[in-house]
Amino acid sequence: MSGLQRLQQVPPMLHRFERQHCLVDSRLAQEIWGRRFPNPVGLAAGFDKDAVAVPALAAMGFGFLEVGTVTPKPQAGNPRPRLFRHRELRSLQNALGFNNAGMESLKRRLTQCWPPPVPVGVNIGKNRQTELAAAAVDYRVLVRYLGDRANYFVINISSPNTPGLRDLQQGETVARLLEVCQEETDLPVLVKLSPDMEDAAAAELARVAVDSGAAGLVLTNTTVDYSLVPEPQPVGGLSGRVLGRRSLELLRVVAAEVFGRCVLVSVGGIETAADIYARLRAGAQLVQIYTALVYGGSHVVQKLNEELLHLLDSDGVADVASAVGLDV
Ligand SMILES: Cc1cc2nc3c(=O)[nH]c(=O)nc-3n(C[C@H](O)[C@H](O)[C@H](O)COP(=O)(O)O)c2cc1C
Repeated sequence: MSGLQRLQQVPPMLHRFERQHCLVDSRLAQEIWGRRFPNPVGLAAGFDKDAVAVPALAAMGFGFLEVGTVTPKPQAGNPRPRLFRHRELRSLQNALGFNNAGMESLKRRLTQCWPPPVPVGVNIGKNRQTELAAAAVDYRVLVRYLGDRANYFVINISSPNTPGLRDLQQGETVARLLEVCQEETDLPVLVKLSPDMEDAAAAELARVAVDSGAAGLVLTNTTVDYSLVPEPQPVGGLSGRVLGRRSLELLRVVAAEVFGRCVLVSVGGIETAADIYARLRAGAQLVQIYTALVYGGSHVVQKLNEELLHLLDSDGVADVASAVGLDV
């Protein structure tokens, strides 16, 4: 991250980095919510929590960026160690707990790069200290304060690292949170879901969210199914390869319920262009990566997009948009 921040301070270096990393091809682009997404591969929330590297991450080739999770007040997160590798499984386990510099800092950072080169979503969460019953106040405050520095919002109620947060994944509560956010903004508001819900509960919650005006769903956050790794840590959520199967499965379940009524963003265990192609066909318009970037390095986005074009070609599919929902 500090390397990316240094890069941003030297425009000729940033431009060189961009030339080395960006793949521009109109077959990858889509128009969503009235904005152009140059390719479907986004950066998942939690990597650039404080929006310190937006220009450099855009130059890395991402089609969109999701910053945050941001909370109203700054907070330190959980004690260290709180981030672990399951290297042989290309997976991570994190218990960060929304460490972030707070919404005022985020707004200053976004103001420095506004308008951004690619769409930027802001993922919002409640402070650890905020009572669950008062969570809606935090989400309202965030959307009100950041409304002119976001292209979309994501209500995060699925992180396993803030005690009780996942209890907000109830129909009535989600409907209320969406209502509160929509009172404060006309921007698209999405909801990010956990992979650990039962299929039926997830489908029902997705339906309620869309009925309540959700512009999209982000599927999924990390999992607490520790049976997926041989030597789990006792805390935190798993991401990366071990999450892929469940993430795709839940996408299919939710797409069966709401495909065509909102934008589905698929995240969890995406490592290859074949993974992306499968998610698109299963109904996702956009995908995001986090763990694959950690293991794969800065050229991973370009590689994914390049290979995705080959897959489309070999299947005779004209472009990304035409692949969306082919299997639904
Ligand atoms: C270190 C780390 C921190 C994360 N922080 C957040 C976060 O703040 N908010 C959030 O919604 N998701 C967060 N996530 C979850 C990711 O956005 C993503 O949903 C998950 O990692 C699955 O994608 P992946 O398998 O490509 O990593 C985090 C993931 C990791 C590995």
